[in-house]
Amino acid sequence: MEDPPPALSVQPIGWLRTGKTLKFHALHQPRESIAEINRIELRKDSRFEGALRDLNGFSRIWLVWWFHRNPNWRPMVLPPRGPAVRRGVFATRSPHRPNPIGISAVQLIDVSRLTLHVGPCDLVDGTPILDIKPYLPAYDAFPAEKSGWWEEVESVERASPQFTIHWAPLARKQRDWLRSNWNVDFSDRMCELLGRDPSPHRSRRIKKRRSGGFEIGCGAWRAIFSLDLTRVTILEITPAYPLRFLIDPERPGITDCDAQIDFLKHWPEKD
Ligand SMILES: C[S@@+](CC[C@H](N)C(=O)[O-])C[C@H]1O[C@@H](n2cnc3c(N)ncnc32)[C@H](O)[C@@H]1O
Repeated sequence: MEDPPPALSVQPIGWLRTGKTLKFHALHQPRESIAEINRIELRKDSRFEGALRDLNGFSRIWLVWWFHRNPNWRPMVLPPRGPAVRRGVFATRSPHRPNPIGISAVQLIDVSRLTLHVGPCDLVDGTPILDIKPYLPAYDAFPAEKSGWWEEVESVERASPQFTIHWAPLARKQRDWLRSNWNVDFSDRMCELLGRDPSPHRSRRIKKRRSGGFEIGCGAWRAIFSLDLTRVTILEITPAYPLRFLIDPERPGITDCDAQIDFLKHWPEKD
């Protein structure tokens, strides 16, 4: 067997700061219709003030970044949109890549010393930024090119019914309680996924429940829902972890751990 080539090393030039702490919070690609301001803080120990000169005149930049929350890669992945068909990872934008590098073309709002404000993006908080390049429409945009399997997905989605989302009183109360007491809110992202296609799917984390109905995993939470033709009703929210895990000192670092424990005081686990 041939030796693998020597590793190449890179250092982040900075990090993205955003309110999105969970992968579930980040969109699959930046969506322009969302009013959102995120911050990139560049390292102070390098000569990046000079490197940023002249960037202010560009309204869009490429971010080249590292999927730092991904422990592994897979040759075939299940894209979150479209039918449950695995695709070669190089034919997707999946985070599970051999070199976990992401690219996003984002609006540049302003540059102020070593801080850049950018528009909607699909990166989570703390993502290491490897490089920044100006977006040049003359070289970077080819809207007429073919998009392989993705074109099929889009045409199936266009022809499919749109699902409407309704909140049962219990789920609405739980959602509002989480928002106001713990600033936890996953409803936009969840409604986007369910509105497009609520059928069971591994990477959308939707499954059928043995006891009836369906559930969707939303970061550290789960929502239980029913489906009646094109009507989705969110019935209830539950923590994704059982209480015995949440209070187990051998399992530190569970996301939203305190919020989940508090939630269970109001809505205890069912047997
Ligand atoms: C489908 S990828 C697309 C990324 C990029 N626009 C691209 O095309 O290379 C976007 C998803 O990556 C995940 N993600 C964002 N930041 C990440 C990080 N730092 N580590 C691992 N996964 C991340 C989020 O779940 C987000 O929805």
